Amino acid sequence: MGQIGWQNRNYNRRSERDRSGIGEAVHGTRRDGARVVIVDVQDELGQNVAETKVENAVNFTVKKHGKIDVLFSNAGVLEQQVSILNLNLDELDRVMAVNLRGSAVFIKHVAGAMVKSGTRGSIVCTTSVAAEIVGNTPHGYTASKHGLLGLVRSSAGELGKHGIRVNGVAPFGIATPLACDGYKMEASEMEEMFSLTANLKGVVLKARHVSEAALFLASDDSAYVSGHNLAVDGGYTVVKP
Ligand SMILES: NC(=O)c1ccc[n+]([C@@H]2O[C@H](COP(=O)([O-])OP(=O)(O)OC[C@H]3O[C@@H](n4cnc5c(N)ncnc54)[C@H](O)[C@@H]3O)[C@@H](O)[C@H]2O)c1
Repeated sequence: MGQIGWQNRNYNRRSERDRSGIGEAVHGTRRDGARVVIVDVQDELGQNVAETKVENAVNFTVKKHGKIDVLFSNAGVLEQQVSILNLNLDELDRVMAVNLRGSAVFIKHVAGAMVKSGTRGSIVCTTSVAAEIVGNTPHGYTASKHGLLGLVRSSAGELGKHGIRVNGVAPFGIATPLACDGYKMEASEMEEMFSLTANLKGVVLKARHVSEAALFLASDDSAYVSGHNLAVDGGYTVVKP
């Protein structure tokens, strides 16, 4: 059977206008035959990312499609950049709840379903250059992405014996709603700023570049790749480590 790809998306909270980020690009470029279940997780519970809802969604998918081959855990939020001296702990909790806890709960239940069905699946999480280096992103976001990379690696370590691969895809800046809202800039201004700071010149990073990398990690083309954080950053983290 085809793959079932996942992206965590809250359609209730955001309008159709916003269906333009990395998740949407993956949805648009998924391989033929893939059956995609897009999971909508409510965030009104704040820190308590609704574990039962995730569990129910996983059970629903397995019942409907038989098994899950791929988890793409992509949901993320970005807080305002402030000095560590003025760190807002509620904002820190919110960002950690979505970026780290949200992925953790999906990995837990999807990996559980993969193990149960004997599926040698692939789990892909969207990390960031902020999972490897610091400087240009807010403290909570940076901490959450460092934590997420740790989770990718530790999950890969445990799940290898089941034949399940876990990897991260780590983009440099892209003018998606997350970035534009976070930095309060128009998409064109955002791209100009990213192009100025980018290492690789002459190409503007788009969501589809990230979706191609995510699909590589999701597919059998990367059959022996696990615990890896695939940078889609034009060399940025190598040049500015
Ligand atoms: N845009 C960038 O510059 C950039 C760079 C590196 C990494 N990333 C990462 O890429 C991922 C996708 O972001 P994007 O840039 O495509 O932005 P985006 O705003 O288009 O996508 C973020 C998605 O997360 C969803 N989301 C947020 N909170 C949620 C919640 N509580 N429950 C369920 N879904 C929720 C949003 O609805 C949205 O669809 C994020 O993890 C982000 O951290 C983005």
